[in-house]
Amino acid sequence: MAIETVPIPFPASLDAKAYEGFGREVRGVGVANFTENEFMVLEKLLYEHDLLLFRDCNLTPQQQCALTKAFDPTSNHYGHGNNHLSKSPTSLLTSLLTTLPSVPQVQLIGNGTISNHEGISSITLKHPSHKTFHAPPHLTSDQESRGETRFYRWHMDAALYEFAPPKVTSLYSVRTPLAPRQKCRYADDYYNSSSTTTTTEDVLENVSLGATAFVSGKVMFEILPVQLKSLAVRTKVRYAPHPFVWMKGAKAVGTGLGLVTEGREVPLEMLPEWEEGKVQELPMVWKNEVTGNLHLQAHPCAAMQLIIDPVLDAEKKDGALYPDGARIEDLKEVRDLLYKIQRPAIAPKFIYPHDWKEKDLVIFHNRGLLHTALGTFKEDQVRVFHQCNLAGSDFPRGPSHEDVARWS
Ligand SMILES: [Fe+2]
Repeated sequence: MAIETVPIPFPASLDAKAYEGFGREVRGVGVANFTENEFMVLEKLLYEHDLLLFRDCNLTPQQQCALTKAFDPTSNHYGHGNNHLSKSPTSLLTSLLTTLPSVPQVQLIGNGTISNHEGISSITLKHPSHKTFHAPPHLTSDQESRGETRFYRWHMDAALYEFAPPKVTSLYSVRTPLAPRQKCRYADDYYNSSSTTTTTEDVLENVSLGATAFVSGKVMFEILPVQLKSLAVRTKVRYAPHPFVWMKGAKAVGTGLGLVTEGREVPLEMLPEWEEGKVQELPMVWKNEVTGNLHLQAHPCAAMQLIIDPVLDAEKKDGALYPDGARIEDLKEVRDLLYKIQRPAIAPKFIYPHDWKEKDLVIFHNRGLLHTALGTFKEDQVRVFHQCNLAGSDFPRGPSHEDVARWS
């Protein structure tokens, strides 16, 4: 049977034109047992469409790991390092991910109590709630009982220290609860007083419980005004050492797109031992190796500094932001600028919330989009997912010299 692709089901809220090439359902290939030729087709499709959906898959964690590894054959360990999470009790991620004992590259995520699962006798999983991560005000109990929820944390899957960002992540839905649909309400509360951002309250209607929301990094770049495009192609983001330990005590803004600046980060000298050579300074814009498209890829919570190159062409300096380059070290300034760049792309019309069915497998281009969990769960709503990504065997490439010349 030949490999076939069909568009993924877009919600009515999505700007179908902006998202025209985004996502494909793939049929006619066994994800548990694929040939080399089939994989070559899949790999190309992944980079062309950024997200591939396979329905009705029967997939063991070993098979999921093998498929994920095929996208980066020389990578070996989980994106944060195998068993790294259990060794780092102070990391923000420790409570959200459980390593499968038989396949340490695969993490168990979800909600509710399950038993006898892949070598784990019994475990209670907790879906992330914005109440433990966002600064107040939170949704009230009334709002939650009316089915309102929030985006938890917009991110790409990456340790952002020592290990290179994974090329792809696979998410497999073992069990998805049937539940009333919810609405995601988000406002720029923290930025109300900031001159850099206008206040908007947005609502993403009609999302399934436990949907995963995706935004395209390509769209995030494309919708920027020229001044911010120029800034983006000239900027590198310096991430904190051990960023998930560094940010453990900090709280997020109500959109889940970055942190409030109130001095809660762990001081660098109090972090677990770190070395400068493992600290990452990554371009703000990553080049898709297959299509050549530019994707805006920055982790707003983990960012610590912005390093901006001067405008290449002296004649284009007029009206440019930071025309002579800069190193922004003030955390609030770093976050305000990133927010200004990234916030437009999480408007409801640019969000693809994947409505999970059991046995869905989604493989996404982790260097080409951002994603977040959302959903307000009750204890008895059971969700079981397997997640796999592998630390990259190389680092993402930034824009080419031609790209910078074109946009800066
Ligand atoms: Fe993730």
